[in-house]
Amino acid sequence: MSSVEKVDYVFKVVLIGDSAVGKSQILARFARNEFSLDSKATIGVEFQTRTLVIDHKSVKAQIWDTAGQERYRAVTSAYYRGALGALLVYDITKRQSFDHIPRWLEELRGHADKNIIIMLVGNKSDLEDERAVSTEDAKEFAEKENLFFLETSALQATNVESAFQTVLSEIF
Ligand code: GTP
Ligand code: MG
Repeated sequence: MSSVEKVDYVFKVVLIGDSAVGKSQILARFARNEFSLDSKATIGVEFQTRTLVIDHKSVKAQIWDTAGQERYRAVTSAYYRGALGALLVYDITKRQSFDHIPRWLEELRGHADKNIIIMLVGNKSDLEDERAVSTEDAKEFAEKENLFFLETSALQATNVESAFQTVLSEIF
């Protein structure tokens, strides 16, 4: 988008979840339509933006990404400040990353705006043979906690667009 075109809204969305679930690759897919198999662990905070049109308005999505590893993480309160949406990501092949979701949710609810829109994301849906978390279990958890839910593959570009679109439209 050229600089003369106006942006009507800027929405901050945060990515959270255990290390190696694919947060940075989900962001790379959404912001640049790129994917890398040898993605390095994130250190500190990074963010990328993409401007989309929702209901005839131009919405700039500012997506924040931090490390899943405790020692590399950003300052928690600053990370969540002003966030209107969140993608809470686990890896469908790593049971532990799903078992940690309640902890991430607690941190999110403790620091973010109470009206924040949250999408639970089961990433790496391309690895069906290695699945360790059933779609049903995740769906049930999401319903109980009032979260949106989708399974994605950053590698195959499945549902990445929908995950962000849903969150951004709901914020809107
Ligand atoms: P931290 O920055 O440490 O918190 O990790 P992260 O959640 O950002 O993970 P990252 O995006 O770096 O991805 C970790 C590994 O999983 C990399 O090797 C990615 O290439 C791989 N990966 C990410 N998404 C997918 C996916 O959808 N399918 C498959 N098969 N691999 C993926
Ligand atoms: Mg990362």
